[in-house]
Amino acid sequence: MKEHATSLFFLGKGGVGKSTSAALFAVYLSRQGKKVLLTSLDPAHNQSDIFGTGLSETPKQITGNLLIKEVDINIWVEKYLSDVQNQIKRTYSYLTAFNLESYFGIIKYSPGIEEYALLSAYKKITEEYAESDFIIFDMPPTALTLKFFCLPKLSLTWLNKLQELRNEIIKKREIITKIKFGNREIERDKILNKLESQINSYRTVEEDFRNRSKTKINLVLNPDKLSFSESKLISEKLKECGLEISEVILNKYKPGFSTKKIKQNFASAGLKLLPLSEEELLGTQALTNYIENVFPR
Ligand SMILES: Nc1ncnc2c1ncn2[C@@H]1O[C@H](COP(=O)(O)OP(=O)(O)OP(=O)(O)O)[C@@H](O)[C@H]1O
Ligand SMILES: [Mg+2]
Repeated sequence: MKEHATSLFFLGKGGVGKSTSAALFAVYLSRQGKKVLLTSLDPAHNQSDIFGTGLSETPKQITGNLLIKEVDINIWVEKYLSDVQNQIKRTYSYLTAFNLESYFGIIKYSPGIEEYALLSAYKKITEEYAESDFIIFDMPPTALTLKFFCLPKLSLTWLNKLQELRNEIIKKREIITKIKFGNREIERDKILNKLESQINSYRTVEEDFRNRSKTKINLVLNPDKLSFSESKLISEKLKECGLEISEVILNKYKPGFSTKKIKQNFASAGLKLLPLSEEELLGTQALTNYIENVFPR
């Protein structure tokens, strides 16, 4: 039995063709007999326009092997906040005195919530569709995408520090309890348990992101200076978070364009060329025609 699907992420500067490339790969792989889920994590979805059909959180079957769903970020923000609220209520019962509900109405507008919501959606989708061969993620604009990828590392830095502090508190509390109750067995600390389970969950995501057989980060760019500069920046930021680009996809490629500079700058990544199409790449038929021309069987 298959253990996991391979996640293919498509990211890059606005308008370079992330959604179109993601759609082309989804159609291509499904035509090769692979089970594919194409999902958009971009709050401004493009897949319904590309496939010319209404899409939502509920996956829609486009062909026998291809499902598409568009993640509704608002649902995931609400879900993330209600999970946090329940955990806080369970772990820190004394806080109910502070009327937490009134704060959660405002917290959903805080910076940083979207990337947590997207990461929850990613985790749920990869668990739910582990039996697929490929899960293709059409990603949001660069700033949010980078926050999404760096969130596990950032959260682990905080959680490890909090774990250290909690251990210090417990040590001090144990000394006091021993004085009061002698050598009585002390109940396992609920907050420490929670921190450990969060650490384990983020570690798993971080390992999955770094595992090149589970996760392939495809950076889409065009033969122009601006998308090239932004791509270099994306690659550097991802490196800071311990992640590597798997494949550079040069989209809207025109024959004669020199790929030398791209190859030099992204030496450790593969390079795929997607030529500029004369036909508009809208609808399954147009995508299929393009694939048959560019990747003949
Ligand atoms: N290889 C191609 N040949 C011709 N047109 C293309 C090609 N790739 C993409 N396009 C066109 O370029 C435009 C932008 O593509 P697309 O919407 O896929 O980009 P995007 O990176 O997802 O944009 P956004 O940042 O807005 O999400 C669309 O009109 C699309 O049809
Ligand atoms: Mg798009």
